[in-house]
Amino acid sequence: MKTPIISPSILSADFANLGEEVQDIDAAGADWIHVDVMDGHFVPNLTIGPAVIKALRGHTQKPFDVHLMISPVDRYVEAFVDAGADILTVHGEAGPHLHRTLQLIRSFGIKAGVALNPATPWQSVEPVIHDLDLILVMSVNPGYGGQKFIRSQLDKISALRGLIDGCEVDVTLEVDGGVNAQTAVDVLSAGADALVAGTAVFQGGPECYAGNIEALRGAANA
Ligand code: DX5
Ligand code: ZN
Repeated sequence: MKTPIISPSILSADFANLGEEVQDIDAAGADWIHVDVMDGHFVPNLTIGPAVIKALRGHTQKPFDVHLMISPVDRYVEAFVDAGADILTVHGEAGPHLHRTLQLIRSFGIKAGVALNPATPWQSVEPVIHDLDLILVMSVNPGYGGQKFIRSQLDKISALRGLIDGCEVDVTLEVDGGVNAQTAVDVLSAGADALVAGTAVFQGGPECYAGNIEALRGAANA
């Protein structure tokens, strides 16, 4: 199996020390930095906005993989682009005009992603498969870190792998929620390219980050 992209979610980092945490996961081998943006409306929790992302931009050269759990989304896209996002992923469930949102994101020259909630069918991305760069399968209900992996999402991951390969499109298949060294084995055999992990990367503190990231990568050879 090919080596997965590892995108640690800073939702599990020490928020009082975010700049250093981002530097630490960069040094520990993170490929991307996953940033969870929540609005207290589309999801029950509230996290961070563009100002914090902008402040973190100087702490790493790694791509910012920004997961927007906000609704409406279009009016904030430019602010996240200006803050330094490299990938902006939106929820198809967050608004009525997904195609327009993807076009808007791509118009700024960055990558556009679509996230699917656990109850959202994989077929919902079929009509926009040529208009996106990344699909994010949520294997928990969005809103909080530390939840249990929902196994029924494995079939969705396989179906999306088939769709991406069948259409011969350059789309990254990423999985988010409850991913650890054990669940990653099934996620990767189902066909994922990229793993988001909060708890599994940040557990144990900075001296464990490199080993935690390596354990996730190693799931590809299990
Ligand atoms: C949930 C977020 C995830 C979450 C992952 O809404 O999108 O990125 O923080 O955390 P763990 O790995 O702890 O499930
Ligand atoms: Zn996320």
